[in-house]
Amino acid sequence: MCGIVGYIGYREAYPIVLKGLQRLEYRGYDSAGIALYNEKELKVSKTKGKVADLKKKMEQEVDTSGTLGMGHTRWATHGVPNDVNSHPHVSNSGDLVIIHNGIIENYETLKKELTARGYVFHSDTDTEVLVNLIEDVIKKEKVKLGKAVQIALTQTVGAYAIAVFDKKKPNEIVVARLGSPLAIGVGKDEYFIASDASPFIEFTNNAIYLEDGEMAVVRRDKGVKVRKIKDDSLVDPYIQELQLNLEQIEKNNFDHFMLKEIYEQPSAITDTYRGRLLADEGIIRMAGVDDNLERFLNAKRILIVACGTSWHAGLVAEYIFEDLARIPVEVEYASEFRYRNPIINPDDVVIAISQSGETADTMAAIKLAKEKGAFVFGVCNVVGSSISRETHAGAYTHAGPEIGVASTKAFTTQITVLTLIALKLAKAKGSISNTDFHMHLQELETIPQKIEVALESNAHIKEVAFKYKDARNCLYLGRGFNFPVALEGALKLKEISYIHAEGYPAAEMKHGPIALIDEEMPVVVIATRKGHYEKVVSNIQEIKSRQGKIIGIVTQGDTSVRDLADHVIEIPDTIESLTPLLTTIPLQLLSYHIAVMLGKNVDQPRNLAKSVTVE
Ligand code: G6P
Repeated sequence: MCGIVGYIGYREAYPIVLKGLQRLEYRGYDSAGIALYNEKELKVSKTKGKVADLKKKMEQEVDTSGTLGMGHTRWATHGVPNDVNSHPHVSNSGDLVIIHNGIIENYETLKKELTARGYVFHSDTDTEVLVNLIEDVIKKEKVKLGKAVQIALTQTVGAYAIAVFDKKKPNEIVVARLGSPLAIGVGKDEYFIASDASPFIEFTNNAIYLEDGEMAVVRRDKGVKVRKIKDDSLVDPYIQELQLNLEQIEKNNFDHFMLKEIYEQPSAITDTYRGRLLADEGIIRMAGVDDNLERFLNAKRILIVACGTSWHAGLVAEYIFEDLARIPVEVEYASEFRYRNPIINPDDVVIAISQSGETADTMAAIKLAKEKGAFVFGVCNVVGSSISRETHAGAYTHAGPEIGVASTKAFTTQITVLTLIALKLAKAKGSISNTDFHMHLQELETIPQKIEVALESNAHIKEVAFKYKDARNCLYLGRGFNFPVALEGALKLKEISYIHAEGYPAAEMKHGPIALIDEEMPVVVIATRKGHYEKVVSNIQEIKSRQGKIIGIVTQGDTSVRDLADHVIEIPDTIESLTPLLTTIPLQLLSYHIAVMLGKNVDQPRNLAKSVTVE
């Protein structure tokens, strides 16, 4: 969490840093700050609130000149979000400036030692401790900034992506990473620092992604020198050519990123299976699976670890893997798995699912599984992310950047990748007939077009949203493959509208939630024709007899649910295992419209962050 951005070169830094912060705001948005140096003066401006508040503040108060600058958008860990706790933080001498994404866990001990030596702290943050620790090393050891950062970091425990400069040496920025992402954009006589490449994409296509445990001195005149923090060895940096383009990170004509990303799902899913799904030839090509086929086929079970929406995609995958490939699957919250002394065998395959590829708990679960000798396969969206590098093999979802904090296209593309893997393994094991296999492949190819059809219900869904926008609670029910979709639908509503919502397996309703049902309670029921339809219709009857308001997600042409429900939203027909890819769409739109009608900040819901790099 937290976004960091920096610039050193010949242009004015302020507009670059400001725009960069706006693009990184998905990473945290409870306070923001910018430091600028213009050869004469250091200016630091920070405020509680969003980057837009910072912009207003800076335009009123501060001269924004300078070709060296750094900025930070925060998701608070240590210290409440206020002006003082916002980054950048400045050392006691007033010379060193730092921005930091991560947590220094032993900051209290370090703070005590520094306080005893006369350092004074103004904020409650771990970051202010770090910048003074670096200053202390410079003074004590008489070393340059780069060396001081290196020495200071060896005394810390925790995670970080940091950028530091010394206003007395304004030709360099020193950066380092451990556990939080950091990219260096390499231009001609100019360099960019950022949590991801989006802040500098219009300036350069060349980026160096620092590895964990690496640091770099970035010099305006001499370029980038990368070394390992621990043993000081020099690293030859790999300059990666970026695939990202500006259009992918702009809202275009949509009001919100979330809506844009909902509408992108047909093309995102097509990108996910492009080159992998050869339906006519009956082939699924996935290098990460092909190269490790024996590991998958010999697996006694598959363990899936993930958090949030990615965990829901894991639950859908459990149904798909067990149904098609007949391999036992267990799905775990990464945060529980990592601390509960789980049984992991060397012949287990662990699949880690993560949109960002940076989630701290998922990363820790992967490391644990690797220690126990399991083969770990990653399903990530962000190319080059920490998780994609830490896993033995993997498959990218290729959904393109997801900026709305509430995950949408990441979910459906994760399910697509996992379905491809399940089908591939089913074929290799012979647990699926040839006819069924071909039918699945053909059907998967039609999904993007069927999502387009599902999206046509948008106006109708908006009307339904208007009717229920003032509900205090909402229940989501589904069975089989669509039980996880009910969980995901409820999560979407909670995240962006702050309405309390619960997802339940439809039949479990009578073991508790049914007590909540009255005429005030909207119940969204996924009742597609394939998948325990009659049973779900009975559940709907039970809700109806208790005056609950029923919103049915049904297959086109359905009549039974239509007769019982207050509203129905139709989706096209498909095979049962693929229904989650369609039933998810109306649930995303429903929560989107409710949140907009309630005036909530859809793309940046309160207290949340897109990339959770703390445990
Ligand atoms: C945060 C995000 C969610 C996401 C979860 C897991 O909570 O707000 O949208 O599902 O993290 O993130 P990951 O990047 O690992 O999929």
